[in-house]
Amino acid sequence: MIRVLVSAEAEAFLTHATVPGDIAVDLLDPAHPIPAGAPHAGILPLLTRRIGAPEMDRLRGLVVIANMAVGYDNIDLDAARARGIRVTNTPDVLTGATAELTWALILATARRVGEGERLVRARTWTGWSPTQLLGTGLNGKTLGLLGAGRIGRDVGRRAGAFGMRVAYWGRSRHPAFEAACGARWCDDPAALARESDVLSIHLASTDATRGLVDGALLDRLRPGAIVVNTARGDVVDEPALVERLRTGRLRAGLDVYAREPAVPEGLVGLENVVLLPHLGSATEEARQAMFDLAWDNLVRVVKGEEPVTPVV
Ligand code: GLV
Repeated sequence: MIRVLVSAEAEAFLTHATVPGDIAVDLLDPAHPIPAGAPHAGILPLLTRRIGAPEMDRLRGLVVIANMAVGYDNIDLDAARARGIRVTNTPDVLTGATAELTWALILATARRVGEGERLVRARTWTGWSPTQLLGTGLNGKTLGLLGAGRIGRDVGRRAGAFGMRVAYWGRSRHPAFEAACGARWCDDPAALARESDVLSIHLASTDATRGLVDGALLDRLRPGAIVVNTARGDVVDEPALVERLRTGRLRAGLDVYAREPAVPEGLVGLENVVLLPHLGSATEEARQAMFDLAWDNLVRVVKGEEPVTPVV
């Protein structure tokens, strides 16, 4: 019998998956560390669990870490490589869901949806007024994509529906994307920021990107610009962003934070920021598909086959 460890929070998705007869599943309680000395060939963790060398060494005979996320900054890839452990992620299946949520944040921030909702719920709305909660139209404005992987490009492809122009910067150019939606390449993040009315962040968290969106970059944005982040919180220098939101220079829509679930105190009291609890891929369809892909990867590797979406 091959034993594998699956995050207990993903148990609901396991009921829709096929579990081969020679695989036994143990559930991993989110509040507990990985059990030491346990004989598990595979682990299916969530992005909230850090898996470094000590965690890998707790599992006897570990051959695969099948992350239920497209990001894998919670896993020490060098430690996995050094131990010959495969690491997999869940690209593609959450692209559309995350792009939709990005647009939800862009629209909510531009049109002050959170403020309006709070007004109604507080029962302090006194009636229609021509100057109440005026937002910013998107038509004719520029959407700047900082990062143009699958999700960034999908966000860009939807921009035409709102009459927005698209500019982008990322690790590499995408001629087909440029042709499909007229996206204009910028040579560096600063050039992109200067052009953007909405700067939407779609970068993975790596040594090269952590803190990339710092005070200097934010100051390239025009006053009133909107910063949206549905990628990873630590790509942004949070205190620098909070300061520019506090002075009213910028507005923001945030789904991710540097030290989740902690949300900087300075953000919570501000009206010009829409705050979500890391919901990018949170649709029934995407989450089941993420589990199915992670499970498929895990089963394949423990049975000696190639995974579908390997990282390492
Ligand atoms: C979500 O943030 C993911 O990386 O899948």
